[in-house]
Amino acid sequence: MNRKNQNKRREFLNNVCPTVAMAFLGVSLLESCSSGDGDVDNGGGNNGGGNNGGGTDNGYTKNGNDVTINLNHSNFSKLKNDGWQNFYQEKILLLKISSSSYRAFTGTCPHQGVHTAWSYNGSSSEFVCGQHGNSYKTDCQTAGTGGVLKCYTTSLSGTSLKVTKS
Ligand code: FES
Repeated sequence: MNRKNQNKRREFLNNVCPTVAMAFLGVSLLESCSSGDGDVDNGGGNNGGGNNGGGTDNGYTKNGNDVTINLNHSNFSKLKNDGWQNFYQEKILLLKISSSSYRAFTGTCPHQGVHTAWSYNGSSSEFVCGQHGNSYKTDCQTAGTGGVLKCYTTSLSGTSLKVTKS
């Protein structure tokens, strides 16, 4: 074998998967080629919506209009600890009524569409949009100073809360 062919052979072996190289050399291994990514299940449990790309566990998944929240996830600790949360990523206001009951509302203020200025007034059971101070009752019926805040359907299964945005 001349020097040029030896260099080509070396280059080939450097560029192929080691298993293929071993097989090429007559060595059999029960192993497949893998780049080490692309087929890894990181256990994050996210497979919907496209906003959880890369397997990152954000504590919720999306499927069409349905947003399913893991109530035990640290991203929802405010809901757990304070009883309400502005889930601004999905423009949803979440309110804990009891250990087995939650309500969900649009997080977009009906007045001028702001979704980042919410606070909750527990004594009057109202969400208040700090942008212009309008308030919204949380019974899904009674108008506050800004009218009625749209309610979404929720269903609870264990620690999984599904909100249907429609
Ligand atoms: S945008 Fe919320 S009160 Fe005006």
